[in-house]
Amino acid sequence: MTKPRILVTGGTGYIGSHTAVELINAGYKVVIIDNLSNSNRDVLDGIEKITGVRPDFVEADCTDMPALTALFEKYPDIKGIINFAASKAVGESVEKPVLYYRNNLNTLMNLLDLMPRFGVKGIVFSSSCTVYGEPDSNPVTEAAPIKKATSPYGNTKQISEEIITDVINSGAPFKSVILRYFNPVGAHPSALIGELPNGVPQNLIPYLTQTAIGIRKELSVFGNDYDTPDGSCIRDFINVVDLAKAHVIAVERMLDDKGEAPVEIFNLGTGIGLSVLELIASFERATGVKVPHKIVGRRTGDIEKVWADPRHANEVLGWKAETSIDDTMRSAWKWQLHLREAGIM
Ligand code: NAD
Ligand code: WQD
Repeated sequence: MTKPRILVTGGTGYIGSHTAVELINAGYKVVIIDNLSNSNRDVLDGIEKITGVRPDFVEADCTDMPALTALFEKYPDIKGIINFAASKAVGESVEKPVLYYRNNLNTLMNLLDLMPRFGVKGIVFSSSCTVYGEPDSNPVTEAAPIKKATSPYGNTKQISEEIITDVINSGAPFKSVILRYFNPVGAHPSALIGELPNGVPQNLIPYLTQTAIGIRKELSVFGNDYDTPDGSCIRDFINVVDLAKAHVIAVERMLDDKGEAPVEIFNLGTGIGLSVLELIASFERATGVKVPHKIVGRRTGDIEKVWADPRHANEVLGWKAETSIDDTMRSAWKWQLHLREAGIM
């Protein structure tokens, strides 16, 4: 039986492209909308090489209501949406809050507006562990309090969760699964798709792999005086392919009406907290490549430690992060080598 079509907004981006692959592998038809503000169309070649199928692609902005409406008219078989499209740089959001509120919230509201009109049964939303701020205790369950956001980016995730809940409570005829990602890292094992950071990376793994290959001189470790065993911050690094697979399960759950509530929320993490220094050690062990690094002062606004309690997703979705951190680090390195071979960076 052919499966329905899924609209993947932001589908040429990092997590969206890995999810498009898993959707296609699971038999779904995929249409991607992306404005290419933080990705490029070559990603479609990577998806096609991995799956043997080229997803349909519409280059347009989700804040452009006429363009989005035209997409739904062109693809009346869309039954589910995964909404990745958003601006995601925390620092930039502090500088350009209106851009962030406009892009992230208008994208979501346009989709929510059009769903009933075109008979779309559900929307999966990319949220973030950033909604927990500095948690009172770890691991963090979905019941942990939402802390005041420390950036406009983080605030867009909190507000988006509230918008979805309000719209569904108003009686909207669709379901939603909100997924709170911890720290997605790594790349597809084929190294045909991965993360493509713009400019100097702000996130740990792209900076680390660029240092290992010699693009950057040295990785700065932001702080070794935190209240953690080795003094560096602790995160829950989740493999991007494992993360992508959870979206396929979430889509199936919405389309088959298997949810326990019209809006469900799941943490997506490994349940293992790893420090920045432990992560560097894992990379060096897994690849045999040294990462020049030095300890510098704390980065303003950093969370000291946060890792997931993923049991809700494990038990209810039947999903579990499976890839070891060493395999994930090998995939990140293979991707960095691919970027060099392809002359991209
Ligand atoms: P990404 O930047 O690689 O992908 C987002 C894609 O959306 C890009 O291809 C971009 O061009 C596109 N886009 C942005 N605004 C758009 C618009 N208005 N219309 C059409 N396309 C638009 O980011 P990612 O890391 O893949 O993140 C995907 C989602 O997951 C985002 O919502 C992000 O906030 C969320 N998230 C990411 C992380 C992370 O660490 N990567 C963690 C938690 C949550
Ligand atoms: C991880 C750790 C840094 C770079 C961000 C967003 C969050 C979410 C995921 C979307 C921290 C340390 C980093 C470096 C370092 N995104 N680090 N040297 O801060 O956990 O989360 O991305 O929702 O909202 O805030 O991720 O990769 O930036 O940092 O020592 O050059 O690595 O201090 O402890 P973070 P990150």
